Amino acid sequence: MRLFIDSANVDEIREVNDWGVISGVTTNPSLIAKEGRNFFQVVQEICSIVDGPISAEVVSLKAQDMIPEAETLAAIHPNVIIKVPMTEEGLKAVSILSKQGIKTNVTLVFSANQALLAARAGAAFVSPFVGRIDDVGQDGIQVVAETVQVFAQHGLETEIIAASIRHPLHVLDAAKVGSDIATVPYGVLKKMVRHPLTDVGVDRFLKDWETVKNK
Ligand code: E4P
Repeated sequence: MRLFIDSANVDEIREVNDWGVISGVTTNPSLIAKEGRNFFQVVQEICSIVDGPISAEVVSLKAQDMIPEAETLAAIHPNVIIKVPMTEEGLKAVSILSKQGIKTNVTLVFSANQALLAARAGAAFVSPFVGRIDDVGQDGIQVVAETVQVFAQHGLETEIIAASIRHPLHVLDAAKVGSDIATVPYGVLKKMVRHPLTDVGVDRFLKDWETVKNK
């Protein structure tokens, strides 16, 4: 499973990209708003940091308005992927954009049936929102698992991005059920690195080294 970072903060993206583990970035209007910066500049800067798919979301509700918006975003950089909401108008836009050769990531996916529709419309990626599904008392990872199964059974090439990841166990579970990608917030990536026994081990090695380093 590949790892994307779910962030619009260029400092976070740069820091984690230097670890060599990040294959792409997802943003959304809420993450962009948190930064309080110009959307186009942020996307451009992210594209200069990470060499991989960078999702930028349209905010129009009608397909006819999503298309020009998507075209403008796609013109920023060849790695830009257009995030489109899972609505009837969104599916229409995905279908048109895929015929134009513009890659899309269908977002706000909460069921395997929605993922199937997005794949059939021609989406390059679908993003089931694991954490938000858990929030309403359903099993987000189960939706990822069902989508993995349906896509494999029917030879659908659309890639699955486990999104709305809230903690390290979500990442592990997404990997175990065969998600292609998990898009992970900065804080969760930091938690994945840490283990108390690693800290204890490093500390002990350094202390032991002190006793022999001048011999
Ligand atoms: C990613 O594509 C989504 O925009 C993101 O994971 C949503 O996460 P949230 O539910 O924590 O806002």
